[in-house]
Amino acid sequence: MKTLVFASNNAHKLEEIRAILSGCFDVKSLKDIGCEVDIPETGFTFRENALQKATYVKEHFGLDCFADDSGLQVEALGGEPGVFSARYATKCGYPVEGNRDDANMNVLLEKLAGETNRKAKFSTCVALIYEGETYFFEGEVKGKIIDEKRGDGGFGYDPIFVPEGHDKTFAELGNEVKNGMSHRARAVAKLAAFLKN
Ligand code: IMP
Repeated sequence: MKTLVFASNNAHKLEEIRAILSGCFDVKSLKDIGCEVDIPETGFTFRENALQKATYVKEHFGLDCFADDSGLQVEALGGEPGVFSARYATKCGYPVEGNRDDANMNVLLEKLAGETNRKAKFSTCVALIYEGETYFFEGEVKGKIIDEKRGDGGFGYDPIFVPEGHDKTFAELGNEVKNGMSHRARAVAKLAAFLKN
């Protein structure tokens, strides 16, 4: 079986991708290959960041690899928070005490106060370096930002994001429904289809 590194230590993402690729690929995490560094993500697009992570592994460990990068883009904010999704409050100059996701959502809701265009989308880009070639797989889910947090599930901006065709937030819909339609699931499905063929 071929070995493929997933440039992540996120247990949930690893479990999901291992299940999809079981029998075809031995998927290793960064920890599994002894990569202890926090790989820099200094790009201005999801694609640049995903490629940066995959390239780091290829160059330092000589192994074929894929990496993902995701985030939320809000139309009325010119695509923010984008690649700064994980650290949006800090980037906007707010001190973050306690829950980082809460702080990020509070800043976003404040910036959107009084704004009628609530359109937003989550996007994921997966970069794959495989047998000397580079490939990209993208997934997105469109929706809107509501003006209050609803629901306990998920993570990140899930409590304020309602996907198109639904009236509940990702946090209210629960992981099973979300994972069937999420940006990440869509990108990973394309990656898996490619690797299995
Ligand atoms: P990552 O690239 O998957 O680590 O995502 C970066 C950041 O984007 C996360 O820390 C979250 O703030 C946000 N994000 C990405 N995917 C989701 C999602 O499915 N729901 C809510 N927030 C997300």
